[in-house]
Formats: sequence, structure tokens, C-alpha cells
Amino acid sequence: MSDAAAPPVLEARGLTTGYDEVPIVRDVDVTFARGAITAIIGTNGAGKSTVVKALVGLLPAWKGDVRLDGRDITRMAPHLRVREGIAYVPQGRIVFPEMTVLENLELGGFTLASDRTKLAANMERVLQMFPRLAERRAQLAGTMSGGEQQMLAIGRALMSSPRVIALDEPSLGLSPKFVEMVFATLIELKKAGYTIVMVEQKASRALEISDWGYVMHLGRVAFHGEAATLRDDEQVKRAYLGELPPELAARFAETESETT
Ligand SMILES: Nc1ncnc2c1ncn2[C@@H]1O[C@H](COP(=O)(O)OP(=O)(O)O)[C@@H](O)[C@H]1O
Ligand SMILES: [Mg+2]
Repeated sequence: MSDAAAPPVLEARGLTTGYDEVPIVRDVDVTFARGAITAIIGTNGAGKSTVVKALVGLLPAWKGDVRLDGRDITRMAPHLRVREGIAYVPQGRIVFPEMTVLENLELGGFTLASDRTKLAANMERVLQMFPRLAERRAQLAGTMSGGEQQMLAIGRALMSSPRVIALDEPSLGLSPKFVEMVFATLIELKKAGYTIVMVEQKASRALEISDWGYVMHLGRVAFHGEAATLRDDEQVKRAYLGELPPELAARFAETESETT
């Protein structure tokens, strides 16, 4: 899937942002095609999470703009972006541990509070998609395994009727079985028509299930393209796809990130 094939549902142009006075991400262009999985990969500290936070409105854009279906949402508050169809699954599978699975899911639908019919339909859909959550619906979220909590975090995001789901490191810290379950879930979400934005450490595996990829380095996009092409690119392979120890990979990235 190329950007030209489908109109982008979400995009940022010339995005610059950071924390306090320090710019972290500089002049980043990212485009997310409708119905595609797009991976954002790159070394630790490259600015991947920062880009996603700016997309979902948790960080202001200092320069550049963010568009949803072509409409400028650069200054829109995060909860309004949720209402407009952008759901965010932050890093660390954050759930409310003292609340049940159902209560956690209900919270995900807060933007639909007045639409009981839609809430019920979304709940039904999520429980169907995640049978483990259905079985454990009355269980306190904090007593579930990490993998189950990640399913819950994703399920909660689906409760807001999103079109775009942005996930930050969804597989981080999970056992191999649950890592695969998360990736299988993302493929299922794509089949169901959602647009997926995914930040991942497991870069090689992420590109395998993605249509398009961005490789970030030192706050900029160093490479981008079709996921299959990136996976075969010698420079990307060497520096970012885990074929070298991280220290060496970082050194390669340093010297080679200027070319795209
Ligand atoms: N809350 C914060 N306050 C100040 N600096 C931060 C904060 N979060 C991240 N940074 C800095 O921004 C850089 C990029 O962070 P991040 O976007 O989280 O990288 P990545 O997700 O690619 O690992 C890091 O070097 C980090 O030092
Ligand atoms: Mg991060």
C-alpha cells in the first residue's frame, strides 16, 4: 500500500515538538493510509513516542500541522481527538487495576456516554474479539497477566469507535506467546478496517505485519517506505533490525542516517 493509493486518514507535516524548551522531534512528515498498518521504528530515544503524543494531542506541535481526513486538528484537545476517531494505547498497558474488566472497557467509551446503543454494540464487539476478556469480565484488571492487560488496553481503545488506533510499544515486556497475540490482534484490527499506527521495538516483526514504515533517528525520519522494502534495505537491516548489537547499531545509525 503506497500513500498514493488511499487518501491519508491521519498525517503530520513539518512536525516539531519537544519537552519544555528542548526540541526533540524536528520537521517530521508522517502519513497514515486508511486501513493500513504503519510502523514507527528506531533506536531508543529517537522520538517515536513523542511523535505519537503529538498526533493524539498530548504534546502541542511547535511547528507544522496534524490533519485528520484532511482537516486541521493541530490545536485540538486530546479528548476531542478521541471523539473524532483517534484512539491511543499508551506504552505500558495502563489499565485501572482496581476496576473490573467491564468497568475498564466502559471507561473507554466515555466520549460516547450519551449513546447507550453504540456503547453496548462496541462492548459486544470487543468481548467477541477478545474471548479472554469476556471470560474475565468481572475480574479486577490488576489481577490479570500482562498480555491480558494489553488486550484490555486495546479493547478499551476500541470502545470509543475509533478509526485510527495509535499504539505505543504494544508488545513491550510481554511473553513471546502474548507478543504474537498482540500482533495477531493488530492484523485482525486491520482486517476490520481500522487504521493502525504502531510504535514498536520489535522492528523486524513489526515491519512483517505492516504496510508502511518510518524509521526514526535522533528526532527525524531517517528512512520511510513500504514495509517490505525497508525490511530488505541493507542500511535499515544493519542499523535497526537487530542484526548487530545495539551499541554498534547505534554507531552505524549515526553515520548513515543522513540518506533516505
Ligand atoms: N517527559 C519528558 N520530558 C523531557 N524529555 C523527554 C520526555 N520524554 C522523552 N523525553 C526525551 O525525548 C527523547 C525522545 O523520547 P521518546 O519520544 O520517548 O523516544 P522513543 O519513544 O523513540 O524511545 C528522549 O531522548 C528523552 O530524553
Ligand atoms: Mg517510546
